[in-house]
Amino acid sequence: MLKTKNILVVSYSQTGQLSRLTENFLVPLQNQSNICVEHCVIKPQKPYLFPWKFTTFFNQFPESVHLRPAPIEPLQLQWKNYDLVIIAYSVWFLSPSQPITAFLQSEQAHILKDTPVITLIGCRNMWLMAQEKMKKMLTALGANLIGNIVKTDQSNSWVSFITTPAWMFSGKKRYFSWLPSAGISDVEIQDMQRFGEKLSHTFKQNIPLDQTLFQNMGAVKIDEKLMMSEKVGHRSFYLWGKLLLKCGQISPRFRRVVLYFYILFLIALILTVVPLSALIKRLLKPLLKEKLTRQKRYFAEPSGE
Ligand SMILES: Cc1cc2nc3c(=O)[nH]c(=O)nc-3n(C[C@H](O)[C@H](O)[C@H](O)COP(=O)(O)O)c2cc1C
Repeated sequence: MLKTKNILVVSYSQTGQLSRLTENFLVPLQNQSNICVEHCVIKPQKPYLFPWKFTTFFNQFPESVHLRPAPIEPLQLQWKNYDLVIIAYSVWFLSPSQPITAFLQSEQAHILKDTPVITLIGCRNMWLMAQEKMKKMLTALGANLIGNIVKTDQSNSWVSFITTPAWMFSGKKRYFSWLPSAGISDVEIQDMQRFGEKLSHTFKQNIPLDQTLFQNMGAVKIDEKLMMSEKVGHRSFYLWGKLLLKCGQISPRFRRVVLYFYILFLIALILTVVPLSALIKRLLKPLLKEKLTRQKRYFAEPSGE
């Protein structure tokens, strides 16, 4: 007789997209006699409204990047220890979304100590720096990251650069009829079941959980072109975020004025740095080949491409 495995799932989804991703992952684990899934959805003390107002959206970036999240309600946890914890999160400004960061900084997150953790990410397409921050927070908690599955928007970077903000500000996934719908495709969302099945099979066979769990399953895809853009983008968010936090201490109005200036700077940065870094990378590819391969392998860990 197999011992029952207690799995804790912690998630926060604003539009419901990440909830669908998580639910599909969990389908194969439901109604299994030896698996007990407890799903805790994080509730921010002050809900984030959707669709977003333009200024409120961008005003989240200093706190998101500097990991100073708005407070959340405590989770109602059934157990003191779990056999596995699944953290499902969206990316906000190249960082884990604020509610997830708030959970990881809470007293309750100490249940992650010495526990295997799987991260599930649903985002536009830039998640590398967010996962680096996630890894650091998990390491500080003594958790053991064994897998990471990432699903990104169905459109390419340029199209989703238009469709994602249009979705966030209007609430409509297909705001422009001449462009594809924003967000992750249904096929990719359903593909999460493949990984849930692998986990269910691993439990049934009583195989210990380790980093081989999702290897060779295409759990993540690393876009080489975005590696440098994410680093540059994060540096800029970090420095401007610091400045905006300081401006806010002087007056919220002053912070707002500097924020508007930064938004213009950010749009210019995206329109120039992303294509420029892609071009530089293409030109230097023969020289950087080994370094890029090494970096790609590092970012793809622990599940691999
Ligand atoms: C404030 C905010 C910032 C975001 N920043 C990023 C980002 O840096 N990179 C990215 O790939 N997606 C970004 N997104 C898109 C989200 O990761 C995600 O795809 C979308 O919000 C839907 O997730 P949900 O299920 O939590 O609603 C951002 C979304 C929001 C609301």
